[in-house]
Amino acid sequence: MKVVICSSYEEESMKAVEIFARRMREKPNIVLGLATGGTPVGTYKELIRLHKEEGLDFSQATTFNLDEYAGLSPSHPQSYRYFMDKNLFDEINIKKENTHILSGLAEDLEAECASFEERIASAGGIDLQLLGIGSNGHIAFNEPGTARNSRTHVVDLAESTIRDNARFFDDPSEVPRQALTMGIGTIMEAREIVLLASGGGKARAIANSVEGPVTEEVPASILQDHACVTFIVDKEGASLLKGNYQT
Ligand code: F6R
Repeated sequence: MKVVICSSYEEESMKAVEIFARRMREKPNIVLGLATGGTPVGTYKELIRLHKEEGLDFSQATTFNLDEYAGLSPSHPQSYRYFMDKNLFDEINIKKENTHILSGLAEDLEAECASFEERIASAGGIDLQLLGIGSNGHIAFNEPGTARNSRTHVVDLAESTIRDNARFFDDPSEVPRQALTMGIGTIMEAREIVLLASGGGKARAIANSVEGPVTEEVPASILQDHACVTFIVDKEGASLLKGNYQT
């Protein structure tokens, strides 16, 4: 895997956007995999700027988001649908019908997961997947111990993830206990993956994922087996790495 160490969060976001913009210009009908959380917000801001100022075109793009909380409606401010609309989709020229986010309100959550897999397959698979990483090494909501061949599924969130995400909710007791998530096997089928991490809280997870053994106990370490992955990390996030990497 390729590792790029940046001096700041802003530089990290710019590096991610360089890859996204290049791929979008090469393939206007690109299929993007997207993430939520704090980390990609700078990337989305810069994509919006490129759209508004330089005409980066999303009109033929299709997107699939990694995950969604179970039980939250799309209008709930902490739902990932709401997050994506506010932080990206409402500001660019993407067709809303081409933006796919798992429904946390589906009556049959398992059927929703199966239909999501079918939608990814009929779009031709994901060309470029953006990922964040949890402090426990999770990718999407695939917590430590998730099978590496897992497909989109319903998960019980780890206590550490509930704690990490409580900052987004008024009251920690409001954090949903379950979510729907792309599986590790689903993510590994993306043709290219960019993982972003920033801050010292991610340093241990980054070191374990990049330099540790490939193990289901650290879901992001499985990315070592993917042919085209770039980790873009700020200095704090990279502080426990021992190797020499591109800066
Ligand atoms: C979000 C997601 C999660 C986050 C991870 C890091 O769609 O899949 O795996 O990427 O929890 O979250 P932040 O960026 O808030 O630190």
